[in-house]
Amino acid sequence: MELSNKAIVVTGASSGMGKSIVELFVKEGACVVAVARRAERLTALAEALAGEAGKIIPFVGDVSKKEDCEAMIDRCVSAFGKLDVLVNNAGVMDNMAAVGNFSDEKYDYVMGVNVYGPLAAMRKAVSVFRAQGNGGNIITVSSLGAQHPVAGVIYCAAKAAINAAVRHTAFNYAKEGIRCNAIAPGAVATEIGSAMGTPDMDGYGRIQPLVKLSPATGKGEDIASVALFLASDASGFVNGQIIGADGGWSAM
Ligand SMILES: NC(=O)c1ccc[n+]([C@@H]2O[C@H](COP(=O)([O-])OP(=O)(O)OC[C@H]3O[C@@H](n4cnc5c(N)ncnc54)[C@H](OP(=O)(O)O)[C@@H]3O)[C@@H](O)[C@H]2O)c1
Repeated sequence: MELSNKAIVVTGASSGMGKSIVELFVKEGACVVAVARRAERLTALAEALAGEAGKIIPFVGDVSKKEDCEAMIDRCVSAFGKLDVLVNNAGVMDNMAAVGNFSDEKYDYVMGVNVYGPLAAMRKAVSVFRAQGNGGNIITVSSLGAQHPVAGVIYCAAKAAINAAVRHTAFNYAKEGIRCNAIAPGAVATEIGSAMGTPDMDGYGRIQPLVKLSPATGKGEDIASVALFLASDASGFVNGQIIGADGGWSAM
């Protein structure tokens, strides 16, 4: 197994890619703290994985809150004795609005979950990694939207900010053995669209020429397998990379 005894925090574990990542990681022997806001989803996931090789601890938390980002990592250290990998997967969509029509309320919400949350979790993880003294590994789920306008302006700006933070972190801590990479999915069948609410039809219409170029829609498992590579020692020399997993969409 690729992740035997690795202690890993995965955010956004209650659905979509995060759920697939937790399922694969626990089957590969990892000890996982699975984070999301919906407790009942996490409990069901833990029950479904009870017979697998690794372990899972559900952790109810909101990644837009500093105290929850810190507590989820503390929980990993207290339960498993260490932190090896942080997977920043939790994320929310905006409402597809272009810049002429975005709301301040949506900005605060999307930036809080998609940018502040990963940065607050990375800050805590880096402090734990440095104290442990044997490197570390951070994986963040970004988006094709960081480079191509296939969602609203807030979401795309948030994911571009994350890509910058990933490269910044990779460079700054490389000599201490802390790796930091991102996955940039294209279209993946998850619950993110239904969680979005009512779309801004002006913005939604403007991006359709690009959205229609997507050659394929992936599954959560397609992203989990990339996360497994990045979490494993097989990717030990991969650092500061934004790895596309989009079925060819970014070749547009
Ligand atoms: N689906 C796509 O086409 C696509 C494409 C590119 C990138 N992505 C990115 O992929 C990642 C995973 O999204 P998904 O598509 O798998 O969506 P999803 O099915 O809606 O899952 C999102 C997860 O994030 C959690 N979450 C949302 N807000 C949270 C918060 N404040 N605190 C803690 N957890 C929170 C949700 O759990 P709770 O609601 O229970 O908290 C859920 O587990 C996101 O970063 C997204 O931006 C998705």
